Amino acid sequence: MSRELSCCNGAAASGGPGRSRQVQEESPSGPVLNGNAEGSGVGGPATAEVQMCQLVLPCHANHQGELDAGQLLKWMDITACLAAERHAGIPCVTASMDDIQFEETVRVGQVINIKAKVNRAFNTSMEVGIRVSVQDVLSGVLKMVCVAFSTFVGKPVGAQKVHLSPVDFSGSVEEQLEHSLASERRRLRLYNEQAFNNLLQDYLTLKGGPHKRNSTPLRSTETTKVESIELVLPPHANHHGNTFGGQIMAWMENAATVAASRLCGTYPTLRSVDMFKFRGPSTVGDRLVFKAMVNNAFQSSVEVGVRVEAYNCEEWTWGTPRHINSAFLIYHMTSGKGPSQTFPDVTFTGKDGERRYLAAIVRKRIRMARKHILSYKDEGPLSVPWDKSNQVYLGYNNVAALTVLAGKHGWEASSTHDKIGIFVNEEQDSLSMKVEMEVHAPAFHVFSQLSDLRLRPQWDKHYLKCEEVEHADEEERVYHVKCPSVNGGRGRDFVLLLSKRQPCKDGDPYVIALRSVTMATVPPQEGYTRSEAQCAGFLIHRKWHTSCKVSYYNQVTSGVLPYVAGSLAGWSKSMEETALSCVAFLEKDVLKTAL
Ligand code: COA
Ligand code: ADP
Repeated sequence: MSRELSCCNGAAASGGPGRSRQVQEESPSGPVLNGNAEGSGVGGPATAEVQMCQLVLPCHANHQGELDAGQLLKWMDITACLAAERHAGIPCVTASMDDIQFEETVRVGQVINIKAKVNRAFNTSMEVGIRVSVQDVLSGVLKMVCVAFSTFVGKPVGAQKVHLSPVDFSGSVEEQLEHSLASERRRLRLYNEQAFNNLLQDYLTLKGGPHKRNSTPLRSTETTKVESIELVLPPHANHHGNTFGGQIMAWMENAATVAASRLCGTYPTLRSVDMFKFRGPSTVGDRLVFKAMVNNAFQSSVEVGVRVEAYNCEEWTWGTPRHINSAFLIYHMTSGKGPSQTFPDVTFTGKDGERRYLAAIVRKRIRMARKHILSYKDEGPLSVPWDKSNQVYLGYNNVAALTVLAGKHGWEASSTHDKIGIFVNEEQDSLSMKVEMEVHAPAFHVFSQLSDLRLRPQWDKHYLKCEEVEHADEEERVYHVKCPSVNGGRGRDFVLLLSKRQPCKDGDPYVIALRSVTMATVPPQEGYTRSEAQCAGFLIHRKWHTSCKVSYYNQVTSGVLPYVAGSLAGWSKSMEETALSCVAFLEKDVLKTAL
């Protein structure tokens, strides 16, 4: 179910037609917003979706006729804000906008389509997914420009926090998938700063200092500094006077573009943005000071940092500014299909310059790792190297891949039993299986038993031995698993990353995701063929206090195939037997505890 609200050429609309009034109730932790439908007992509030389309005119473009990235960020933010307000029923402000990669350059005369939808409401914040595409009016060709995720917080008048009602995601499988992935993305964005600080610390302790490219003369990053000021007026803010996040992002992009062009002496193109995080609010009357400079230049890209500080009228003379936002924007010198050029080498001045120069290298590393790890393309080797500093991305990738697998259409029953169901899913280039089990044991107990992989040899005859080789933390561990030979061949062994997650909210499953990783400390073993698992794991749905439904998934690889081939072909009952043994193991331990 999805309620759609459209707006064309700037006809921004707040709230939705037909949205009934929402009521605030006091609770110990703050007011709770009752969605219209939920309040009237008809069900939860519908998925809030908003669309905007804009014909790109010369006033939206730069001198080269390309859509100004700042203008696009403004449109994206306003569309997302309207979707957020549609769900919350109160004014909302942008807390952050995640990293964005711009895939296409948009030109004057083309039409921009922006779709924003609330994927999930957490407590006081919600994630809005934004998809931007461009259509060429003459050819009709439609291309994706970018996908982004923003977080909005409901902000009524006054300082109180407002708890949001959940999103009704009972619609399509895609909606359910986005809903599940939203909580993983939230972990990632809240961990972002810590991941960066850890990596920077590692980098700073490396001996030898930063590597500089060997060419002269070097340009100092100091020479690219830009300072610019804006006065926040009513058109830059919502009806409560809170400055629109998109407006601030547009001003930031403007200052950053000037800094980048100072280095390259030509017109740079914005290619990606590291997260915009709004640390504090800004209101009408604020004087916003934008400070930008190049932090580091790589072969074909340059990182520009921007810091935004706010002063109100009184603070302007005497006060200390409020830090509103700092963001890092990546520019390329190539535009369209033109020849690729390189940026001049840079050097830094002073301690801050050096810190920022190094920090830019670390952020580049994080971006590369994320790009590599977070894409689920079925190409190349299945295993990724285990690296503690990338734990959060590997964990995300692991859980997200399992969530995507579980959300697939087309599971066909291959065998059913009163406690067990076996399903297969055949796609063009992949075969996956699912085993569903009804277990008379509390979900948490099942979760803790299944997430300790060392216990698995007790119920799975395909696990000869399982050893924990890395205990990263409570949620991520790496195991070395030895499996017996099948049909007289060599045994197989796997190095598996296990990521476990407890439910974020009632109704969410417990998740135990498994995928292969490589570790230098666990080289291939004599007598075993090193094999890989692409995506496997358990989702545990609580039914009652004392029972749950366990779904086991496995995307079959050549390494896994020998162990499941008989069951998939129908000449072995090995999968049913393993599942029954698993259920008995999980239920036996409960009986023991109860006695
Ligand atoms: N990205 C995503 N969500 C974030 C976040 C970030 N960088 N920082 C905080 N949040 C979320 C928290 O997870 C929490 O969500 P939950 O209640 O659903 O669990 C919610 O925001 C509130 O966080 P909390 O820690 O209680 O409050 P805070 O004191 O950190 O304030 C903001 C967070 C976003 C409200 C505050 O920083 C703010 O007002 N920023 C300015 C927002 C604004 O005015 N934007 C427009 C342009 S200036
Ligand atoms: P950090 O110094 O850790 O990067 P800041 O929030 O201080 O964090 O700054 C963010 C970015 O803004 C810097 O990396 C730099 O690129 C830019 N910046 C900060 N201060 C200035 C300044 N005085 N002049 C020009 N650019 C600045």
